[in-house]
Amino acid sequence: MSAIDVVIMAAGKGTRMKSQRPKVLHRLAGRPLLAHVLDSAAALGARSAVVVTGHGAMEVEAACAGWAGAGGQNHAEVRLAYARQEPQLGTGHAVQQAAPLLGGDGVTLVLNGDVPLVRPETLRALVDLCAGRQIALLTVDTGADAGAYGRIVRGAGGGAPVQAIVEAKDATPAQRALTEWYSGVMAAPTHLLKKYLALLTDDNAQREFYLTDVVKHAVADGTPVQALRIADAVEVAGVNSPQQLAELERAVQQRHAARLMEAGVRLADPARFDLRGELRCGPDVEIDVGCVFEGVVELGEGVRIGAHCVIANARIAAGAVIHPFTHIDGAAVGPGALIGPFARLRPGAELGRAVHIGNFVEVKNSTLADGAKANHLAYLGDATVGERVNYGAGSITANYDGANKHRTVIEADVHVGSNCVLVAPVTIGAGGTVGGGSTITKSTPPGALSVARGKQVSIANWQRPARKKP
Ligand code: UD1
Ligand code: CA
Repeated sequence: MSAIDVVIMAAGKGTRMKSQRPKVLHRLAGRPLLAHVLDSAAALGARSAVVVTGHGAMEVEAACAGWAGAGGQNHAEVRLAYARQEPQLGTGHAVQQAAPLLGGDGVTLVLNGDVPLVRPETLRALVDLCAGRQIALLTVDTGADAGAYGRIVRGAGGGAPVQAIVEAKDATPAQRALTEWYSGVMAAPTHLLKKYLALLTDDNAQREFYLTDVVKHAVADGTPVQALRIADAVEVAGVNSPQQLAELERAVQQRHAARLMEAGVRLADPARFDLRGELRCGPDVEIDVGCVFEGVVELGEGVRIGAHCVIANARIAAGAVIHPFTHIDGAAVGPGALIGPFARLRPGAELGRAVHIGNFVEVKNSTLADGAKANHLAYLGDATVGERVNYGAGSITANYDGANKHRTVIEADVHVGSNCVLVAPVTIGAGGTVGGGSTITKSTPPGALSVARGKQVSIANWQRPARKKP
């Protein structure tokens, strides 16, 4: 089997996005469009990927380097290269810039940087159809109007060989009525592709060098042109406008939701579910509406996620319940824990078994051992909290002195009253009690009641000052 070199066209301006950001860097399911395309190239086992950049080239190339660095499966095995296209004179011109970087021995697979959802299996079938000797086009026919896409023109008869691709703007009325369209994906033996690229001209409605004209040159040269026709328009849908991006986002999310539900996850409403990364679920997981999952999130058996939670890069152990409007990022939640509503777990929060974190409690870079509770309006930052600690409403760890962060240690079975300030570094000894309203600046002994606040004074028959006469 010949080696596959991928060319990804990503130099275009994306005028209809009406955005400063290069089109291929707009995000779908949390990742740049281009990252999805690179993923497909990697999954296919491509030898190299040449990204054609132009508009926003520096940004686009940096994003590709970030993709390679992300080190997903196979990422390291694809050799990444860039070809600058300045100015951008069309898709054919784009591939011409990449041509010198393509080994003449292989098959070139051309992908559009703005067509993000093509499945690797489909690409594999296209490369197989090309068989190292003919041109293979990925086409779609849903029977509906083909919009702005390039029309597939065949000879007489339904399954007849492909004669040409005609851009919508250049099509005759009869051609415009054709419903089979070109997806922007083609596979061709590299030596033949180079030969036909050299023949392209820009005598068309847009005065561009069209990659799609390669087809007519192949036909004239006697090289067969085959089409792999699929019916799933989502797989090859291009992103040209915010509307199309949003439509594709919903389509991706519906696929995610369907896959999870097939695995037994109970989604309250698949239309109100967003996954921007990877979600691994044990059995009997329930997710209410409006939740967003980012990065890698693991939900153990029986976990319930309330409405409108945002959860990123987290492990939630079996039986834990996350109540509505909770934000979790970079945290681990122990079995049977109860979190929220309105809780915030920040990076480095590690909660043990049956920990309770209530409303308006923020936890950052802190461990809470089994059974610890902070139920209302509190902050725990850079703290080590022992088993069964009860941390009162309105209490905070003063972990930052303006220059450095310090740790607070709260040993097992401590009760911290309401509205306390624990000025780190400080240790509250095991079993101790801190009286409400205390500002604790020195470590306290185990078992003690520690109070650090002004003593209460009551002055009898107090006369409030009277207003002076003018
Ligand atoms: C292209 C096809 C059309 C097909 C459609 C599928 C051509 C001439 N037409 O049209 O038949 O139905 O894709 O989505 O190929 N690009 C460059 N340099 C350029 C121009 C474009 O790198 O000079 C890149 C763009 O960034 C984009 C891709 O090529 O990623 C496609 O370009 P676009 O202008 O969107 O082509 P379409 O008009 O959609
Ligand atoms: Ca396009």
